[in-house]
Amino acid sequence: MKRDPLPRLDKNPGLRRRLLPYCRLGPGDLWTDPEGRHAVGCLDAANPTQLRELMGGRYATLAVEDPPYNLAVFPRRSITEYVSWCRRWVEATLECLTDDSSLYVWLGADQRHGFQPLPDFMIMMRDLPLAARSFVTMRAQRGYGTQKNWMALRQELLYYTRGQPRFLPQYTDIPKILRGYYKEVGGRRTENTERGRGKTIRPGNVWVDIQQVFYRMEENVSGCYAQKPLAAMERIISASSMSGDVVLDSFAHSGTTLLACERLGRRARTADIDPVYCEISIRRLERYRRTGRLGWQNTNAFEKELQTRGKG
Ligand SMILES: C[S@@+](CC[C@H](N)C(=O)[O-])C[C@H]1O[C@@H](n2cnc3c(N)ncnc32)[C@H](O)[C@@H]1O
Repeated sequence: MKRDPLPRLDKNPGLRRRLLPYCRLGPGDLWTDPEGRHAVGCLDAANPTQLRELMGGRYATLAVEDPPYNLAVFPRRSITEYVSWCRRWVEATLECLTDDSSLYVWLGADQRHGFQPLPDFMIMMRDLPLAARSFVTMRAQRGYGTQKNWMALRQELLYYTRGQPRFLPQYTDIPKILRGYYKEVGGRRTENTERGRGKTIRPGNVWVDIQQVFYRMEENVSGCYAQKPLAAMERIISASSMSGDVVLDSFAHSGTTLLACERLGRRARTADIDPVYCEISIRRLERYRRTGRLGWQNTNAFEKELQTRGKG
């Protein structure tokens, strides 16, 4: 087994610069899928003109957005500036959605910094023409955490809708174990386990059954620092879109939404401002098509070009 993962690219600017010449897209460029299903753009999510080009005249029924969080990426920006930037990309996203559509946003609440930016973002969203539908918490354990506070292992996911989009309930693999909730049906006393549609429980708005991506997982994309689990993206896409629908993700990074769309028969329109993440996303899709692999657990997207272990 090869052991040649990339280190985190956000912490290795020299290595990131070395990868740039191998990237197909530069700022403003689009990649269109030779199989005619998806498109990837090297774009600014807050630029409505660029997003419209990415959409190529189509509208999405679902957008799944996972922007960089304030302090990690904009250390010198105030929370007010961050939230007004968020408003700009949300408005650009809304221009790409159909009248009956769903918007999901992954956004953290940093407990070391006044829980920002999540509450500020939620309040800003009240001004926009969207209905707030759910606030999902995904349990995302990685590492052992602190002994001095409650370990931060929650990832927050907001669900908004416009109009009347489809919603198909999803199920976990966790068997129903709670009995009770008796009810008379046709003169007979029935239990909840007989009346329910599935044999397993639904995730509801607390997802405890999805493993956070870490380096031992096959779907891990080495070099990336903020990869969401494929199972989480597939759950969102399965609940809130139909086969053949267009799904928008303006913050591609490791290309999780792109891969989920490929696997579920949706059409992805995805973008990243950084050419390196655009290239990683495209290569992840191409490799999946060739080999069925989900990521680069023990190697990396640029292994041919770099040859030897990630020098930076
Ligand atoms: C939190 S990551 C997204 C993770 C992604 N959901 C995944 O599963 O891999 C955020 C990404 O947004 C990109 N980004 C930052 N600012 C952007 C902008 N203005 N427009 C588009 N992408 C941007 C970053 O380069 C980074 O790759």
